[in-house]
Amino acid sequence: MTKTLLPDARRGRVLVRRPGPHLARGLLTHLERRPVDADLALAQWHAYVAAFQEHGWPTIEVDPADDCPDATFVEDTMVVFGDLAVIARPGAPERRPETDGAELAVASLGYRIARITAPGTLDGGDVLKLGSTMYVGSGQRTNVEGIRQLADIVAPEGVEVVAVPISQVLHLKSAVTALPDGTLLAYLPGLDRPDLLPELTPVPERHGWRAILLGGDKLLMSTSAPRTAQLIADRGFEPVQVDVSELEKLEASVTCLSVRLREPLTAPSR
Ligand code: GLY
Repeated sequence: MTKTLLPDARRGRVLVRRPGPHLARGLLTHLERRPVDADLALAQWHAYVAAFQEHGWPTIEVDPADDCPDATFVEDTMVVFGDLAVIARPGAPERRPETDGAELAVASLGYRIARITAPGTLDGGDVLKLGSTMYVGSGQRTNVEGIRQLADIVAPEGVEVVAVPISQVLHLKSAVTALPDGTLLAYLPGLDRPDLLPELTPVPERHGWRAILLGGDKLLMSTSAPRTAQLIADRGFEPVQVDVSELEKLEASVTCLSVRLREPLTAPSR
């Protein structure tokens, strides 16, 4: 199959944050708590980081936030568009201290910084970027005011924000992911308003099916969703699978574990 890759389908750098000592106490909303093997979780995280490195992505470790069990899910701390990093204000108050270290990391790389402020809340996992549109999940973690602030911040960048109410999943990106050819994969039972999104391709699995472009045809995925991996392979992509099962017990996925900085800056600082 011939694919047309979207313009942002290229390598950059990746922010990651290693799991802390209290990982097993991470927040759960839609999953039952199960015991987490901390050593195995750390080994899986290292393998996840190695997958990026093996595909030419330099990884940058954000300083630990060890008092925050969910800090390894660093995607939630920001939304990056071009050279602008919008620092989130997580909807779960216990996750708010996670953003300081993440802001330091991205600011030291030369990104312009904007922030979501009270009473706005926004989790990075709620923001699905598709070209010059951001679809933003509005639910338990991201509120209407957070979406309004994000829209104001990114409007000068030529970005339109579309709010998408969610109630069945933690984040919008728990239910939708974009492939580099523009296909939107979706777990349809997780979406209250699929009509607000462009055409969706249903996935057969509820968990573990999200994907990250590594470069070329390669997509990083979890080993937990073999039927979706086959669907992706049938569309001409090559799934690169990592086992992140211990981290998935905390209602996370491969996408939550990193911030992909796909547009390297030329200036080291501003
Ligand atoms: N455990 C991930 C979260 O609830 O944010």
